[in-house]
Amino acid sequence: MPERIFIGVAWPYANYEIHLGHLVGTFLPADIFARYNRMRGREVLMVSGSDEHGTPITLEAEKRGMEPQELVDLYHGIIKRNLERLGISLDLYFRTSDPNHKRVVQEFFLRLLENGWLYEKDVEQAFCPKCRRFLPDRYVVGRCPYCGYPEAKGDQCPMCGRLLEPQLLEEPRCALDGTPVEFRETRHFYFKLSKLEDRLKEWFFSKDVWRPNVLKYTENYFREGLRDRAITRDIEWGVPVPIAGYERKRIYVWFDAVIGYLSASMEWARSRGEPERWRDFWQDPEARHYYFIGKDNVPFHTIIWPGMLMAHGGLNLPYDVPANEFLMMGKKRFSKSAGVGVWLTELLDHFHPDYIRYYGTLVIPEGKDSSFSWADFVNVVNRNLINGYGNLVHRVLTFVHRHFGRSPEPGELDEVDREMLSKLEEVHGRMTELLERVLPREAFKHWEWLVGEANAYFNAKAPWAQVKENPGAAGTTMHVLLTVVRGLSIMALPYIPFGASAVLRHLGVDPTEVSWDQALEPFPAGVEIPEPTPLYKRIEVPTPPEDFAILDLRVGQVTHVEPIPGAEKLYQLVVDAGEKFKVVAGLKGIYEPEELMNRLVVIIANIQKAKFMGRYSEAMLLAAEEPVSLLTPEKPVNPGLPVKGSKFTPSPLPGRRVKLSTFRKMRMEVVTIRSDGVVGSRGFEPVRDFEIPEEWVGRKGVAFFSQRGPLILNVEDRVLIVPDREVEDGTPIV
Ligand code: MF3
Ligand code: ZN
Repeated sequence: MPERIFIGVAWPYANYEIHLGHLVGTFLPADIFARYNRMRGREVLMVSGSDEHGTPITLEAEKRGMEPQELVDLYHGIIKRNLERLGISLDLYFRTSDPNHKRVVQEFFLRLLENGWLYEKDVEQAFCPKCRRFLPDRYVVGRCPYCGYPEAKGDQCPMCGRLLEPQLLEEPRCALDGTPVEFRETRHFYFKLSKLEDRLKEWFFSKDVWRPNVLKYTENYFREGLRDRAITRDIEWGVPVPIAGYERKRIYVWFDAVIGYLSASMEWARSRGEPERWRDFWQDPEARHYYFIGKDNVPFHTIIWPGMLMAHGGLNLPYDVPANEFLMMGKKRFSKSAGVGVWLTELLDHFHPDYIRYYGTLVIPEGKDSSFSWADFVNVVNRNLINGYGNLVHRVLTFVHRHFGRSPEPGELDEVDREMLSKLEEVHGRMTELLERVLPREAFKHWEWLVGEANAYFNAKAPWAQVKENPGAAGTTMHVLLTVVRGLSIMALPYIPFGASAVLRHLGVDPTEVSWDQALEPFPAGVEIPEPTPLYKRIEVPTPPEDFAILDLRVGQVTHVEPIPGAEKLYQLVVDAGEKFKVVAGLKGIYEPEELMNRLVVIIANIQKAKFMGRYSEAMLLAAEEPVSLLTPEKPVNPGLPVKGSKFTPSPLPGRRVKLSTFRKMRMEVVTIRSDGVVGSRGFEPVRDFEIPEEWVGRKGVAFFSQRGPLILNVEDRVLIVPDREVEDGTPIV
């Protein structure tokens, strides 16, 4: 009988779209693990679904003037679709508002009741006299009794992570209107978690799989002693309590949601016409259960859900709960409620799913928080995926196709060939070991290393030279490379299934049938290798910051100069910047006409036209203010070229002119360039998303301070724009 693996992925609340943090914290590592295990020949059942009850849903629905059902219908659909587009290979993505789920929850509840694990109790419950209703735990805020954090919520403290109850808060008040709450009597069902304390501790501490964060959060929870927990609430949205007298109450969202792992398994079995199949996973004691969650969900999966399963009896407990830390953006954590995040729809609309998965893998917060940045995303995709793996595949397939047409028969392997193949074996061993321990990100580092080694081997062997002198030797090299490329692609299947499948098909391997250990097999001779097309396209440079983009900045050349009669300071100029512009400039007395003639300048070609002494000026020359100093490219370049801000080229709308007053509000200054930023009037400011060329470091330049930070003015990524006289850092450009 094959080994069986059940994989549960935390159910996201369907109150909004999901973001990259969800993906890299739960779904992606779960999917990598599932695909890896299937390739090992294990039977895998992986389920998740939308968590559609609870205050996160009702709060959001209230805010948007929608019915809760309408809200969850909308987001359940979006989330499900996005997971599919990303290739997350769930056997079922279920939902808690489904009638079949509700039935399973009610049956679970009744079974616990029959077995004596539930009891009724009259309790004091937070009641807001102003709202005139009982408040869900989350609607009560106050000071955390453990860490003193003043904004702790009635269910959990966001600062120290401890689970709370509203009664434990100091100075509890209503989250909606700040009114101090009263505690009034109401009747609820309680789950006897306290009675399970010893069994749970014994179970938990007898296992040695736990990650440090899982141990820490669970130990914290045990330390306070397990208390019985209310599992019903005075609310209208949720699973009805199947007991007379409870018509106006609902089952608590967490009790409801975790049962989703079971209900989804049953639904999966039912929908494939084998209604008993779920038992293979839940009742075969050899089946191993893994739960992929974020660290804030730890106690629910290491204490409460296992406790519920013990009380129910006859169902498997978790084998491992590989919880991840958080994904951060700057100093903030990705969070739906705080609106911090990069949403999957947006990513999927712009990028190949493999790009998201590849970058996502490298930022799985495995063991510690990780952070997201767009610059990183572009770099990783262009450098590691496309220049690394994509390029290796392309050059190997192209070479074999062109010179052999079919995979060649190897001759005798030399030292270097054998070393290359042993690296493949070594990486396969490492990855296997790390994936067994559910460390997909760490495993992938070894894969990336092997890509680098294979590219280096290609270069060292120089088959383009070999093929002229000794085609047999080139054949051996290509045999080794085909073996490595196939091995790499097999091991990449869990990570970037779309591209890796395409490569394998190109090599005559069926990606749906291939096993993990086939990565080590030598590539057979005589397989036809058709001409390849590139796997992926590089990510184009992202759009410039809007404030910079609207300026039509260009290099111009002065082709005509004449003083304007009767004007003390004005010249009439003609500037050639692709097309000719008549410009009135206040440079008389500062620059002599001969100094200006033929000189290269920088103009704003789309500034609002202005009239001076009856003459129109169609563009504006840029200069540092004091002493007046024209901006110019440091080396000769063609007039008409756009002036870029770092890597961004201006992209003004045709015909759209910029008002002088708008330009005056922009900040542009003379600066000194450092390796990681610029020094201007506000001191040092870092330059992001751009690698400053070494030749610029230490030099004077000009920066445009955009919403996304300073941009360094240049032409064609190499020629700096500079003031033509000595001016101090921070001098404004006018
Ligand atoms: N919806 C919860 C959250 O986002 C997670 C629920 S996991 C469950 O924190 F499977 F137990 F439902
Ligand atoms: Zn706290």
